[in-house]
Amino acid sequence: MKEVKVGIIGFGTVGAGVAENILKNSEVVAKRTGVKLVLTRIADLDITTDRGVAVPRELLTTDAAVAIRESDIVVELVGGTTIAKKFILEAISAGKHVVTANKALLAEHGNEIFSAAQTKGVNVAFEAAVAGSIPIVKALREGLAANRVSSIAGIINGTCNFILSTMRDTGRSFDDVLKEAQRLGYAEADPTFDIEGTDSAHKLMLLSAIAFGVPVDMTKVHIEGITHLEAKDIKFAEELGYRIKLLGITKYTDYGIELRVHPALVPTRRLLANVEGAMNAVVVKGDAAESSLYYGKGAGSEPTGSAVVADLIDIARTAEVAVSERPRMPTTTHNPKAKSFADFGDTVCSYYLRIPVEDKPGVLAEIARILADNKISIESLIQKEAPLEDASTEIILLTHSTREADIQRAIRTMQQLANVRGAIVLLRKEELQ
Ligand code: HSE
Repeated sequence: MKEVKVGIIGFGTVGAGVAENILKNSEVVAKRTGVKLVLTRIADLDITTDRGVAVPRELLTTDAAVAIRESDIVVELVGGTTIAKKFILEAISAGKHVVTANKALLAEHGNEIFSAAQTKGVNVAFEAAVAGSIPIVKALREGLAANRVSSIAGIINGTCNFILSTMRDTGRSFDDVLKEAQRLGYAEADPTFDIEGTDSAHKLMLLSAIAFGVPVDMTKVHIEGITHLEAKDIKFAEELGYRIKLLGITKYTDYGIELRVHPALVPTRRLLANVEGAMNAVVVKGDAAESSLYYGKGAGSEPTGSAVVADLIDIARTAEVAVSERPRMPTTTHNPKAKSFADFGDTVCSYYLRIPVEDKPGVLAEIARILADNKISIESLIQKEAPLEDASTEIILLTHSTREADIQRAIRTMQQLANVRGAIVLLRKEELQ
């Protein structure tokens, strides 16, 4: 039986999940795969806190270099983009394979890390970095390898999905539900990365790099979070037959590769619209497989640990295979003919607008004229019957597909109208057909 020595750096929630999985399932995994994973070291600055896993004390060390030296595969679970990068580059330089759940690090510095790994002939595997337990990296690299992928759309942040689901179910405000999410442990004490869309953007960047063979470049991702979403837009969307989800979207188009994270209206009848609570889901469209959906837990110690251990087994199985034969990492050499990323202004989308206006004759005509001048076609339109206290009301309209730059220009012009009484709310709509 092939034995593979595993060292973990970072003994937090996910580190404990990985250790637990190896200790609990290594026999059954060995029978199934012919690979026995042996936990050799766990490094963390804090080795006294009880992590809820019965790890032999002699495995614990405060020295990451020991974990690197004594392992065949190093699991980096420190997080962040500074010390984690140092450990990964040291492991690669020592000729060790690396498994990481660190989406921020790979999305920001992946080109350097993947190139170093390629030069050294080692793997950097990162299934756990995107959508936790869902094997979406493997699906893109292997299950869908025969496809030209045209688009990926995913709910890839459980915190935001929990907040949006709860806002819809209860009609409560964003701030109120965020506090509940923090109380329940879904949201961090500092939730900025999740609620501002950064975490989703990191994951999306990695999915796009794999699907389209492009180097990572976070400067090309358009990122909007959910902090400005109002309960009334969730309610109006529901009335129109849509649910609002924070989506990560990447598409291969004539004008380049789209990369965007933002709240989006999704038709209620789509499976993606019915992904609730902290769950994750990703829809991939390929020319042969057509549409396929992947659903599961995007966070948590054991779900994420499951993805890490799957990577360990994959690396162990292919470690003796020539580097050129192994699953490819997203590097500049992966697809030299790939398109570049699209300018966000060229993105084609349809839109939801909520326009606060004076309730008097001619206002709608002014708005319709501006939309027409910008080649924007209205799909449907409602005006709420009951005027607000100050004789103003709100027009809610959905547009047909149009260019982002055109809708932004139209909004700037509408915003100048004397009869428009406040900030126009813009949300994007994804039919996901
Ligand atoms: N904080 C993330 C989420 C999980 O809420 O989905 C780790 O990326």
